[in-house]
Amino acid sequence: MGFSKEVQLPDVPSSLNHPQLDVAVDAALQGARIVADYFYRGVEIRSKESFNLVTDADVHAEQRIAEVIRASFPEHSILGEEQHSDSVEAEHLWIVDPLDGTNNFAHQIPHFAVSIGYYHRGVAKVGVIVNPITSDWFFCVRDQGAWYRGERAIVSSEMRLEKSMIGIGFYYDRGVMMEATLMAIRDFFRENIHGVRRFGTASLDLCQVGLGRYGTYFEYQLHPWDFAAGKLFVEESGGMVSTCEGLEIPIARTSCLASNKHLHPAALEITRRYWVNESPRLPAGGAHFTQS
Ligand code: IPD
Ligand code: CA
Ligand code: CA
Repeated sequence: MGFSKEVQLPDVPSSLNHPQLDVAVDAALQGARIVADYFYRGVEIRSKESFNLVTDADVHAEQRIAEVIRASFPEHSILGEEQHSDSVEAEHLWIVDPLDGTNNFAHQIPHFAVSIGYYHRGVAKVGVIVNPITSDWFFCVRDQGAWYRGERAIVSSEMRLEKSMIGIGFYYDRGVMMEATLMAIRDFFRENIHGVRRFGTASLDLCQVGLGRYGTYFEYQLHPWDFAAGKLFVEESGGMVSTCEGLEIPIARTSCLASNKHLHPAALEITRRYWVNESPRLPAGGAHFTQS
Protein backbone atom coordinates (compact mmCIF):
# COMPACT_ATOMS: atom_id res chain seq x y z
CA MET A 1 0.00 0.00 0.00
CA GLY A 2 1.43 3.39 -0.98
CA PHE A 3 1.66 6.46 1.19
CA SER A 4 -1.61 8.34 1.54
CA LYS A 5 -2.18 11.93 2.60
CA GLU A 6 -5.72 11.01 3.61
CA VAL A 7 -6.43 10.57 7.31
CA GLN A 8 -7.38 6.91 7.57
CA LEU A 9 -10.82 6.19 9.00
CA PRO A 10 -10.78 4.91 12.56
CA ASP A 11 -11.52 1.37 13.44
CA VAL A 12 -13.51 2.00 16.61
CA PRO A 13 -13.67 -1.14 18.80
CA SER A 14 -17.20 -2.52 18.59
CA SER A 15 -17.26 -3.18 22.34
CA LEU A 16 -17.00 0.55 23.08
CA ASN A 17 -20.31 2.13 23.74
CA HIS A 18 -21.08 5.67 24.83
CA PRO A 19 -23.60 8.25 23.59
CA GLN A 20 -20.83 10.80 22.96
CA LEU A 21 -18.26 8.48 21.38
CA ASP A 22 -19.36 8.66 17.73
CA VAL A 23 -19.46 12.43 17.76
CA ALA A 24 -16.05 12.61 19.44
CA VAL A 25 -14.63 10.35 16.72
CA ASP A 26 -16.28 12.28 13.88
CA ALA A 27 -15.14 15.62 15.32
CA ALA A 28 -11.57 14.30 15.65
CA LEU A 29 -11.65 13.00 12.07
CA GLN A 30 -12.87 16.32 10.67
CA GLY A 31 -10.29 18.23 12.70
CA ALA A 32 -7.52 15.82 11.69
CA ARG A 33 -8.33 16.27 7.99
CA ILE A 34 -7.96 20.03 8.31
CA VAL A 35 -4.72 19.81 10.29
CA ALA A 36 -3.25 17.30 7.80
CA ASP A 37 -4.20 19.52 4.88
CA TYR A 38 -2.40 22.53 6.41
CA PHE A 39 0.60 20.35 7.29
CA TYR A 40 1.09 19.17 3.70
CA ARG A 41 0.67 22.70 2.41
CA GLY A 42 3.42 23.77 4.84
CA VAL A 43 5.67 20.96 3.70
CA GLU A 44 5.15 22.09 0.12
CA ILE A 45 5.80 25.76 0.90
CA ARG A 46 8.87 25.04 3.07
CA SER A 47 9.44 28.68 3.95
CA LYS A 48 8.73 31.05 6.80
CA GLU A 49 5.27 31.43 5.39
CA SER A 50 4.49 27.90 6.50
CA PHE A 51 4.63 29.06 10.12
CA ASN A 52 1.51 31.17 9.54
CA LEU A 53 -0.29 27.97 8.67
CA VAL A 54 0.11 26.86 12.27
CA THR A 55 -2.31 29.38 13.70
CA ASP A 56 -4.65 28.99 10.76
CA ALA A 57 -4.65 25.21 11.21
CA ASP A 58 -5.38 25.47 14.95
CA VAL A 59 -8.22 27.92 14.55
CA HIS A 60 -9.78 26.31 11.50
CA ALA A 61 -9.67 22.79 13.00
CA GLU A 62 -11.16 23.94 16.32
CA GLN A 63 -13.98 25.70 14.46
CA ARG A 64 -14.82 22.55 12.55
CA ILE A 65 -14.61 20.35 15.66
CA ALA A 66 -16.98 22.68 17.52
CA GLU A 67 -19.42 22.63 14.59
CA VAL A 68 -19.52 18.84 14.64
CA ILE A 69 -20.08 18.76 18.41
CA ARG A 70 -22.72 21.50 18.33
CA ALA A 71 -24.61 19.83 15.46
CA SER A 72 -25.36 16.88 17.75
CA PHE A 73 -25.22 18.50 21.18
CA PRO A 74 -26.15 22.18 20.84
CA GLU A 75 -26.56 22.56 24.62
CA HIS A 76 -23.11 21.24 25.47
CA SER A 77 -20.18 23.46 26.48
CA ILE A 78 -16.79 23.57 24.84
CA LEU A 79 -13.38 24.46 26.24
CA GLY A 80 -10.89 24.71 23.39
CA GLU A 81 -7.38 26.06 23.27
CA GLU A 82 -8.09 28.58 20.55
CA GLN A 83 -11.60 29.98 20.65
CA HIS A 84 -13.87 28.30 23.16
CA SER A 85 -13.80 29.14 26.84
CA ASP A 86 -16.97 27.78 28.39
CA SER A 87 -16.93 27.12 32.11
CA VAL A 88 -15.28 23.97 33.41
CA GLU A 89 -18.27 23.69 35.78
CA ALA A 90 -20.57 22.88 32.84
CA GLU A 91 -22.53 19.65 33.15
CA HIS A 92 -21.50 18.52 29.65
CA LEU A 93 -18.05 19.75 28.71
CA TRP A 94 -15.99 18.98 25.63
CA ILE A 95 -12.30 19.80 25.97
CA VAL A 96 -10.50 20.24 22.66
CA ASP A 97 -6.91 20.67 21.56
CA PRO A 98 -7.24 21.02 17.77
CA LEU A 99 -3.48 20.76 17.31
CA ASP A 100 -1.38 19.39 20.14
CA GLY A 101 2.30 19.54 19.23
CA THR A 102 2.34 22.90 17.48
CA ASN A 103 6.10 23.13 17.52
CA ASN A 104 6.44 19.78 15.75
CA PHE A 105 3.84 20.86 13.21
CA ALA A 106 5.67 24.14 12.58
CA HIS A 107 8.96 22.29 12.02
CA GLN A 108 7.31 19.71 9.78
CA ILE A 109 7.85 16.89 12.25
CA PRO A 110 4.86 14.56 11.75
CA HIS A 111 4.17 13.96 15.43
CA PHE A 112 1.17 15.94 16.63
CA ALA A 113 -2.45 15.22 17.42
CA VAL A 114 -6.04 16.26 17.63
CA SER A 115 -7.28 15.57 21.15
CA ILE A 116 -10.90 15.58 22.31
CA GLY A 117 -12.20 14.73 25.77
CA TYR A 118 -15.81 14.65 26.87
CA TYR A 119 -16.51 15.32 30.58
CA HIS A 120 -19.77 14.85 32.44
CA ARG A 121 -20.05 16.79 35.71
CA GLY A 122 -16.29 17.13 35.89
CA VAL A 123 -15.55 13.46 35.21
CA ALA A 124 -13.81 12.32 32.01
CA LYS A 125 -16.03 9.89 30.13
CA VAL A 126 -14.67 9.69 26.57
CA GLY A 127 -11.30 10.44 25.02
CA VAL A 128 -10.25 10.36 21.37
CA ILE A 129 -6.77 11.27 20.14
CA VAL A 130 -5.47 10.95 16.59
CA ASN A 131 -2.21 11.71 14.85
CA PRO A 132 -3.45 13.06 11.48
CA ILE A 133 -0.30 12.03 9.61
CA THR A 134 0.14 8.44 10.82
CA SER A 135 -3.61 7.92 11.39
CA ASP A 136 -2.84 6.42 14.77
CA TRP A 137 -6.10 6.47 16.70
CA PHE A 138 -6.44 6.19 20.49
CA PHE A 139 -9.83 5.65 22.12
CA CYS A 140 -10.96 5.43 25.73
CA VAL A 141 -14.29 5.28 27.48
CA ARG A 142 -14.65 5.34 31.25
CA ASP A 143 -14.95 1.78 32.62
CA GLN A 144 -14.61 0.31 29.10
CA GLY A 145 -10.87 0.55 28.67
CA ALA A 146 -8.32 2.29 26.50
CA TRP A 147 -7.84 0.99 22.97
CA TYR A 148 -5.16 1.19 20.31
CA ARG A 149 -5.09 -0.68 16.99
CA GLY A 150 -7.98 -2.92 18.00
CA GLU A 151 -6.50 -4.00 21.33
CA ARG A 152 -6.74 -2.98 24.95
CA ALA A 153 -3.90 -0.73 26.04
CA ILE A 154 -2.18 -1.83 29.26
CA VAL A 155 0.45 0.02 31.23
CA SER A 156 3.83 -1.59 31.89
CA SER A 157 4.19 -3.82 34.94
CA GLU A 158 7.67 -2.49 35.73
CA MET A 159 8.28 -1.78 39.41
CA ARG A 160 11.67 -0.04 39.11
CA LEU A 161 12.53 3.33 37.68
CA GLU A 162 15.91 1.94 36.72
CA LYS A 163 14.29 -0.27 34.08
CA SER A 164 12.03 2.42 32.73
CA MET A 165 11.83 4.89 29.88
CA ILE A 166 10.70 8.31 31.08
CA GLY A 167 8.66 10.75 28.99
CA ILE A 168 8.97 14.44 29.71
CA GLY A 169 7.68 17.72 28.42
CA PHE A 170 8.71 21.34 28.74
CA TYR A 171 6.23 24.12 28.85
CA TYR A 172 7.16 27.16 26.74
CA ASP A 173 8.87 28.69 29.80
CA ARG A 174 12.59 29.41 29.51
CA GLY A 175 13.07 30.38 33.17
CA VAL A 176 12.70 28.63 36.52
CA MET A 177 10.16 26.09 35.26
CA MET A 178 12.63 24.94 32.64
CA GLU A 179 15.38 24.81 35.29
CA ALA A 180 13.16 22.76 37.60
CA THR A 181 12.40 20.34 34.77
CA LEU A 182 16.09 19.90 34.03
CA MET A 183 16.86 19.23 37.70
CA ALA A 184 14.16 16.58 37.85
CA ILE A 185 15.46 14.94 34.67
CA ARG A 186 18.95 14.84 36.19
CA ASP A 187 17.54 13.08 39.27
CA PHE A 188 15.71 10.56 37.11
CA PHE A 189 19.00 9.78 35.35
CA ARG A 190 20.59 9.24 38.74
CA GLU A 191 18.09 6.42 39.23
CA ASN A 192 19.67 4.71 36.21
CA ILE A 193 16.59 4.94 34.05
CA HIS A 194 16.87 3.52 30.54
CA GLY A 195 16.39 6.94 28.98
CA VAL A 196 14.36 10.09 28.55
CA ARG A 197 12.15 10.96 25.57
CA ARG A 198 10.70 14.35 24.73
CA PHE A 199 8.46 13.96 21.70
CA GLY A 200 6.59 17.26 22.06
CA THR A 201 2.92 16.28 22.14
CA ALA A 202 1.47 15.87 25.62
CA SER A 203 -1.64 13.94 24.55
CA LEU A 204 0.49 11.37 22.69
CA ASP A 205 2.97 11.25 25.59
CA LEU A 206 0.16 10.23 27.91
CA CYS A 207 -0.83 7.52 25.43
CA GLN A 208 2.75 6.17 25.57
CA VAL A 209 2.26 5.59 29.31
CA GLY A 210 -1.04 3.82 28.61
CA LEU A 211 0.65 1.61 26.02
CA GLY A 212 3.36 0.60 28.50
CA ARG A 213 6.17 2.27 26.58
CA TYR A 214 6.92 5.00 29.10
CA GLY A 215 6.95 3.92 32.74
CA THR A 216 6.17 7.47 33.69
CA TYR A 217 5.78 10.93 32.15
CA PHE A 218 5.80 14.33 33.78
CA GLU A 219 5.46 17.95 32.86
CA TYR A 220 5.37 20.92 35.22
CA GLN A 221 2.70 22.79 33.33
CA LEU A 222 -0.13 21.62 31.13
CA HIS A 223 -3.57 22.96 30.24
CA PRO A 224 -6.82 20.97 30.32
CA TRP A 225 -6.85 20.53 26.53
CA ASP A 226 -3.39 18.91 26.69
CA PHE A 227 -4.46 16.14 29.08
CA ALA A 228 -8.30 15.92 28.91
CA ALA A 229 -8.33 12.79 26.74
CA GLY A 230 -4.87 11.41 27.55
CA LYS A 231 -5.46 11.28 31.29
CA LEU A 232 -8.47 9.01 30.78
CA PHE A 233 -6.40 6.88 28.37
CA VAL A 234 -3.78 6.33 31.10
CA GLU A 235 -6.37 5.57 33.77
CA GLU A 236 -8.26 3.14 31.54
CA SER A 237 -4.97 1.37 30.78
CA GLY A 238 -4.45 0.73 34.48
CA GLY A 239 -2.19 3.68 35.21
CA MET A 240 -2.62 6.79 37.28
CA VAL A 241 -2.28 10.53 36.84
CA SER A 242 -1.76 13.19 39.52
CA THR A 243 -0.15 16.57 39.80
CA CYS A 244 3.62 16.56 40.30
CA GLU A 245 2.87 16.93 44.02
CA GLY A 246 0.58 13.89 44.12
CA LEU A 247 -2.73 15.75 44.20
CA GLU A 248 -5.77 15.07 42.06
CA ILE A 249 -5.56 16.82 38.68
CA PRO A 250 -7.96 19.77 38.40
CA ILE A 251 -9.57 20.84 35.10
CA ALA A 252 -7.24 23.82 35.05
CA ARG A 253 -3.64 24.71 34.35
CA THR A 254 -1.68 22.15 36.34
CA SER A 255 1.42 20.03 36.60
CA CYS A 256 1.02 16.42 35.57
CA LEU A 257 2.62 13.11 36.50
CA ALA A 258 1.38 9.94 34.80
CA SER A 259 2.64 6.44 35.50
CA ASN A 260 1.87 2.73 35.48
CA LYS A 261 0.91 3.18 39.21
CA HIS A 262 3.84 1.09 40.52
CA LEU A 263 6.36 3.80 39.66
CA HIS A 264 4.23 6.65 40.97
CA PRO A 265 5.76 6.96 44.48
CA ALA A 266 9.35 6.92 43.18
CA ALA A 267 8.60 9.37 40.36
CA LEU A 268 6.65 11.62 42.69
CA GLU A 269 9.57 11.77 45.07
CA ILE A 270 11.61 13.36 42.28
CA THR A 271 8.99 15.61 40.68
CA ARG A 272 7.90 17.12 44.00
CA ARG A 273 11.52 17.85 44.93
CA TYR A 274 11.42 20.75 42.46
CA TRP A 275 7.72 21.61 42.55
CA VAL A 276 5.52 22.74 45.40
CA ASN A 277 2.20 24.62 45.46
CA GLU A 278 2.32 24.54 41.68
CA SER A 279 5.54 26.60 41.63
CA PRO A 280 9.17 25.70 41.06
CA ARG A 281 11.18 24.89 44.16
CA LEU A 282 14.85 25.14 43.34
CA PRO A 283 17.79 24.51 45.63
CA ALA A 284 19.20 27.43 47.60
CA GLY A 285 21.66 29.38 45.51
CA GLY A 286 19.32 30.15 42.69
CA ALA A 287 17.69 28.78 39.65
CA HIS A 288 20.76 27.46 37.93
CA PHE A 289 21.17 24.02 36.52
CA THR A 290 24.52 22.74 37.74
CA GLN A 291 26.29 19.43 37.49
CA SER A 292 26.76 18.93 41.24
C1 IPD B 1 2.14 21.62 23.94
C2 IPD B 1 2.59 20.20 23.70
C3 IPD B 1 3.94 19.96 24.32
C4 IPD B 1 3.95 20.28 25.78
C5 IPD B 1 3.48 21.72 26.02
C6 IPD B 1 2.09 21.89 25.41
P1 IPD B 1 0.62 22.80 22.07
O1 IPD B 1 0.85 21.85 23.40
O2 IPD B 1 1.66 19.27 24.21
O3 IPD B 1 4.33 18.60 24.20
O4 IPD B 1 5.26 20.13 26.26
O5 IPD B 1 3.41 21.95 27.41
O6 IPD B 1 1.66 23.23 25.63
O7 IPD B 1 0.99 24.19 22.46
O8 IPD B 1 1.49 22.25 21.03
O9 IPD B 1 -0.82 22.61 21.81
CA1 CA C 1 -1.49 21.24 23.60
CA1 CA D 1 -2.63 23.29 20.71
